[in-house]
Amino acid sequence: MNGPPGAGKSMLAARLPSILPPLGPRELLEVSMIQSVAGALKGGALSNRRPFRQPHHSASMAALVGGGIGARPGEASLAHGGVLFLDELPEFTPQVLDSLRQPMETGEIMIARANHRVTYPARFQLVAAMNPCRCGMALEPGYACRRGPNERCAAQYGARISGPLLDRIDLRIEVAAVTAADLILPPPAEGSVEAAARVAAARALQGARYAALGLPGATTNATCPASVIETVAAPDAEGTALVRSAAETMRLSARGFHRTLRLARTLADLDGEAQVRRLHLAEALSYRARGERPAAVA
Ligand SMILES: Nc1ncnc2c1ncn2[C@@H]1O[C@H](COP(=O)(O)OP(=O)(O)OP(=O)(O)O)[C@@H](O)[C@H]1O
Ligand SMILES: [Mg+2]
Repeated sequence: MNGPPGAGKSMLAARLPSILPPLGPRELLEVSMIQSVAGALKGGALSNRRPFRQPHHSASMAALVGGGIGARPGEASLAHGGVLFLDELPEFTPQVLDSLRQPMETGEIMIARANHRVTYPARFQLVAAMNPCRCGMALEPGYACRRGPNERCAAQYGARISGPLLDRIDLRIEVAAVTAADLILPPPAEGSVEAAARVAAARALQGARYAALGLPGATTNATCPASVIETVAAPDAEGTALVRSAAETMRLSARGFHRTLRLARTLADLDGEAQVRRLHLAEALSYRARGERPAAVA
């Protein structure tokens, strides 16, 4: 999420767990085991609420991915099955951020010591928030950045996030500032409870799909093997044409291609549609294209 100060980015991220489905029995066991190893299990009480971890941007690599004395699990593992929220993303040390690249791909973290190694699960949903530039207003219409042209200020700030990390972020959204006048309007018709029901329905569809394919390890579009997503998210003819041209113009990486398919499949699931259509692919691609570095787009 990229937006000016006070637009509600941190607030939105903190609300995300309220629309996520509860942990299943197997996930609950994994989450409890990690918390227990980390000494974070409060009074032995288990909760089926998905974890939400928000490490500060001063966090060290050991704090984020684990390690240190006793090779303890880090925030990335404590967020397993839930959300890892990195607020003020460009303020994190670049090396610390890049240490998340490998777990984001494999869903686990191996900590190697001189005489032993430990592997912790770390399949989390990464959510990050940032301002477009250091003064925070570069995207506002009619605003002139204090530190020179808006584009340069934003490019300098955004450059702290490496390309490979950005390539792993599927939904890039600009969060516009809300005015006080907007807040006086009647509340939106859909609340978290209704949204949670839609999420649960889409998850149920996915669970049934992968169970029918005999893939007990995969329960969501995010976790199924890449070869499988190519079949289950095979778009209609119009969609195929769109992906082909987008792959060229956006220079989609192989990872970007599969991630776009996963996202389009999820959008179709949310619509309750069996076939991924052009519409879903266009939406998935638009989330990936936003926030593309100006230099890369040009
Ligand atoms: N859409 C909204 N609806 C209701 N309240 C909002 C909304 N957006 C912002 N607010 C109010 O503004 C406060 C600040 O929002 P928040 O801290 O999430 O901003 P932010 O985008 O994270 O800003 P920063 O970039 O400075 O961290 C919230 O606690 C809330 O009171
Ligand atoms: Mg904030």
